[in-house]
Amino acid sequence: MRGRSTRLIVALDTKDTAQAVNWRQATAAHAGAVKLGLEFTYASGLEAVRAVAGDSPLFLDLKLHDIPNTVASAIGSLAGVRPAMLTIHASGGRAMIAAARAAVDATFPAQARPLLLGVTVLTSMDEAGLHEIGVPGSVKAQVIRLGRLAMEAGADGLVCSPHEITPLRQALGEDPVLVVPGIRPAGSAAGDQKRIMTPAQARAAGADWIVVGRPITRAADPAAAAAAIAAELAA
Ligand code: C5P
Repeated sequence: MRGRSTRLIVALDTKDTAQAVNWRQATAAHAGAVKLGLEFTYASGLEAVRAVAGDSPLFLDLKLHDIPNTVASAIGSLAGVRPAMLTIHASGGRAMIAAARAAVDATFPAQARPLLLGVTVLTSMDEAGLHEIGVPGSVKAQVIRLGRLAMEAGADGLVCSPHEITPLRQALGEDPVLVVPGIRPAGSAAGDQKRIMTPAQARAAGADWIVVGRPITRAADPAAAAAAIAAELAA
């Protein structure tokens, strides 16, 4: 068993500010952070993102992917949002990742610096999809290739599916902060998530953070659902 703990991020997947605030407040005692992404940010803007996050650490999942200068400038525009974690696509390449690293360091003071996380292969992609865009080989090989590149170029960690935790830990060791969606407590509906693990399984595999949305936000009692997951992670 690894020495570090695994903490819960609640995905506030909605366009509605009041709903997002309700979920955040209901689950705050059991979660280490909240996630807001493209859906909420495009619908409501960065000021609303800041307002919804409140006192909770914010996982800002905007998956940046552009030329290095544009990605760096975009990160500069996040100074007032104060995220605890932000995401870029590792497939943007070494120069883009390095520019993101430099922009994070220049934009945020050391004590409030977000973790820079690389997204490797989207979980919606399969091997055939990778081949179609000119990437030969397996999904796993591509995840490890991009994960290694992201870490070499200055990322703090990676977003990965639960089934990629073990191969990434074997290839890259304990250094990367691994943030893992695709989590389903035993007995909850899988929805559109296919390759899932329970919170306890993801913890045993070596996740630092798990990202959970619908099993909490669609539960009759979101606070109780978050509490149960936090208890499972602490057991
Ligand atoms: O509702 P559910 O628990 O499936 O939500 C998981 C969250 O993690 C969503 O916000 C989703 O966008 C995000 N996510 C994911 N798979 C990825 C990356 C992010 O499910 N590969």
